[in-house]
Amino acid sequence: MIKLFHVYKHYDTQSVLDDVTLVVKKGDICCIVGPNGSGKSTLLKLIFGQENPDRGQIIINNKNVTHMSQWAISSIRQRMGFIFEDCQLILRKTVIQNISLALTIAGTPLKQGRQNIDRVLATLELEHKKNDAVSTLAAGEKQRVSIARAAVSDPLVLLADEPTGPLDSTATAKVFALFRSMSMRGTTVLLTTQNQDVAAKFPQHRVMLNHRKIIPQ
Ligand SMILES: Nc1ncnc2c1ncn2[C@@H]1O[C@H](COP(=O)(O)OP(=O)(O)O)[C@@H](O)[C@H]1O
Ligand SMILES: [Mg+2]
Repeated sequence: MIKLFHVYKHYDTQSVLDDVTLVVKKGDICCIVGPNGSGKSTLLKLIFGQENPDRGQIIINNKNVTHMSQWAISSIRQRMGFIFEDCQLILRKTVIQNISLALTIAGTPLKQGRQNIDRVLATLELEHKKNDAVSTLAAGEKQRVSIARAAVSDPLVLLADEPTGPLDSTATAKVFALFRSMSMRGTTVLLTTQNQDVAAKFPQHRVMLNHRKIIPQ
């Protein structure tokens, strides 16, 4: 489902990823663990087509997205959910408006969309906040809205950049339960963390990103 072959990326004079090869199978949850600045966000942005690699190939759902036009990549992005490190929500809109937007972009049928919204709001305990403007929420609540938005359209690929950073242990457990149920329904999940305790929860497929290289655990 997600394949990276010999991917290189640098910014200015700094090499960030150096010959990275990674294969994540459909429905798998892969946890990338690495310290600050090790290139975790860059790796997810390359898969999302937000950045281009210097060299190497990136294949998503059997399509080679390396150097695809922004127009072509946008149709693949419709089937991807991205939980950004900094949430990237529309602050003046409500929780439900932010989440619904993801369904519109993905073209999810209305009835299925409504069911999915109810399910993710319940799982992430956001029902009581659904009509509140995002600007009024606490940081952990904003983060859960960001997770709900990425999860609601049942994406083929879920990219989660340090998704549980601002969450307490109860919310973290709920988010991981959500990821596991999505993976059982076929979503391929790639999540990053700098926290070894988080990484320890994903022993099946865990890789370390360090010194610009992927090291299997
Ligand atoms: N747009 C950019 N321009 C220049 N340098 C960047 C840019 N994005 C990331 N970097 C650099 O690349 C390195 C890896 O960043 P990042 O992928 O955000 O790491 P992580 O998510 O693991 O903390 C950092 O040293 C960062 O400063
Ligand atoms: Mg990062």
